[in-house]
Amino acid sequence: MGLTALCPGTFDPVTNGHLDIIERAGRHFDTVVVAVLENPAKQPLFSVEERVSMLKEATSELGNVEVDPFSGLLVDYARLRGSSVIVKGLRAVTDFEYEIQMAQMNRSLSGVETLFMTTAPNWSFLSSSLVREVARYGGDVSGLVPAVVAERLAEKLGGPR
Ligand code: PNS
Repeated sequence: MGLTALCPGTFDPVTNGHLDIIERAGRHFDTVVVAVLENPAKQPLFSVEERVSMLKEATSELGNVEVDPFSGLLVDYARLRGSSVIVKGLRAVTDFEYEIQMAQMNRSLSGVETLFMTTAPNWSFLSSSLVREVARYGGDVSGLVPAVVAERLAEKLGGPR
C-alpha cells in the first residue's frame, strides 16, 4: 500500500498557490487527497460542491490527486482515508502561528504529522480571501487562479472591469 498525504483546506476558491503545493506534494507521495472542508458555520463564496468541482478540473492532469469533501475533524477524515500525513503550504511567519497550533493539536489528537512546504515565492502574497476581494471589485485575477476559477468568479461576481 502506498503513502497517502492529505492537503486540507477551505479552497474558497483554489488558487495557483494551492495548486503548486498539491502538485509538489504529488511528487513525494503515491496519492494526494485534497480534502475540502464543508463547514456549516461559515458562509463561503462557493458551495462545497463548487469548490470540489473547480479543484477536480484544476487537478485533472495530475494522475495521483483525488479531491473529496469532508466535515468534522480532519484527524477523523485522515484515519478514514488511511493517511497519517498532512501537507500544508507556509507563506510567511504570519501563517506559522496559526499552522503550528493546528499541527500540534492534530498530532496530540491522533499522532498525525504535518509536513510544511514553503510556498513558491511568486505566490507568497496570494490568498483565497484576497482573490475574492480583488474579483469583487472588478480586478483581474486570471493570472492568480486556474482558468476554471476565473470563469466561475466572473459568473458569480461579474468579470474584470
Ligand atoms: O484553508 P484553511 O481555511 O486554512 O484550512 C483550514 C483547515 C480546513 C485545514 C482546518 O480548519 C481544519 O482542519 N478544519 C477541520 C476541523 C478540525 O479538524 N479542527 C481542528 C484542527 S486543529
